Amino acid sequence: MSQTIKVGVFGAGRGEPYIDLISREDPDVIRVVAVCDKRADRLENMKKYEGLPRFSDFESFLEYGKKAGMNAVFLANFFHQHTPYAIRAMENGMDVVSECTAASTLKECVELCRAVERTERKYILAENYPFMTPNLLMKKLIDQGTLGTPLYAEGEYNHSGTLAELRELTPFPNHWRAWMPRTYYVTHAMGPLMYMTGSEPRYVSARAAHSGLLEKIRDFRPNDDGMARLFCEMSNGMIASVTGCTAMASDYSRYRVAGDIASVEQGGYTGGKVRLFYTSHTKPADVPNEEEYLTPDLASFGPKAEQALNAGHGGGDFWIVQEMIEVLGGGGREPFFDVYRSVAMSAAAILGWRSCLNHGENFRIPDFRNEEERRAVESDDLTPFPDENGEGRTLPPSTRYGRY
Ligand SMILES: NC(=O)c1ccc[n+]([C@@H]2O[C@H](COP(=O)([O-])OP(=O)(O)OC[C@H]3O[C@@H](n4cnc5c(N)ncnc54)[C@H](O)[C@@H]3O)[C@@H](O)[C@H]2O)c1
Repeated sequence: MSQTIKVGVFGAGRGEPYIDLISREDPDVIRVVAVCDKRADRLENMKKYEGLPRFSDFESFLEYGKKAGMNAVFLANFFHQHTPYAIRAMENGMDVVSECTAASTLKECVELCRAVERTERKYILAENYPFMTPNLLMKKLIDQGTLGTPLYAEGEYNHSGTLAELRELTPFPNHWRAWMPRTYYVTHAMGPLMYMTGSEPRYVSARAAHSGLLEKIRDFRPNDDGMARLFCEMSNGMIASVTGCTAMASDYSRYRVAGDIASVEQGGYTGGKVRLFYTSHTKPADVPNEEEYLTPDLASFGPKAEQALNAGHGGGDFWIVQEMIEVLGGGGREPFFDVYRSVAMSAAAILGWRSCLNHGENFRIPDFRNEEERRAVESDDLTPFPDENGEGRTLPPSTRYGRY
């Protein structure tokens, strides 16, 4: 049975583009009913959404939401604090759409899975990069079996910035962007590869490299590694090599999946196209060239697909809203990034950091569908993130300043 999705947005920075996108949809299908942020400037900016109730405190937002029939919460609050709010929302009968990352400790990975099972609410990770238009074409080619057996995949996400941009993105000393080790923001590099190949990480080993440029600003950003790379054994047998969020002089993001018959790849250098490549001995007779640059045909991704052209992150944000409509609207579809795949990614990032601190030690990623495996890590709350008073951090933010 279909229901109107009444969304409360928590966090008005990243949350704002979603309020805009949702307002373009049929309000009987999905609409935003409240927004919450403790930052006065961001709340002030919300005035442009006339009549939208605004709150600065989560509990008042939740109380109002319960009365207003709010049945879903979009979490766009601090990166490392999604889990407790997700659980709070689900315990109040609301579905959850969470920005990345799903969880910032192994303990939270366990708590989140148990909460989804206990409350029977829907959970979607709003990982949008898999839905960038060229990535959708790569997935289509892989689903058609074009590559043969996927053997190897690469994902790279790069977000460097000027000093002024970095200062704006890091508004206070204990902000998550100042302390986040380079493996933690793994979803934009790994998520697309998981979605394209239907796989998830099973083992992780990682390394990080220190940046001389970032060292100069460690007074306000102590996480002065410039990149980390994680090597993962995936559930489909493929090896994936992915970055977290890097600060390299490189393309913004790039993806490649290589099989035993063909490979596909895309990045800034392919200009929005997908490079399909065969070797001379694997090229099928009916394929004209060993190498082709394919332009994604948006119309082939559904009747509304052209609207993705006006959405952020290569159209990815548009598809997250469509995912919300299809998954939360009562149609019965499960999201690809359900709680289990989402926490598997978070765990790869968390254990990847321990690996970096210990010269590439290999870690097995727990199977969070299995309660026995969950019990083994349910108290593991090691974290590189301090609380608002600068307390509670149990791991270093960069490899230069402490291994364990
Ligand atoms: N998928 C993407 O493409 C993408 C892009 C940008 C950000 N993000 C993610 O979105 C999230 C938010 O990103 P951002 O750049 O807006 O971060 P941010 O730190 O600038 O903003 C978080 C907002 O949440 C508010 N907030 C946090 N805790 C609160 C509380 N207890 N009560 C009220 N308000 C609270 C803060 O005041 C702040 O305005 C992060 O998880 C980030 O990783 C994803």
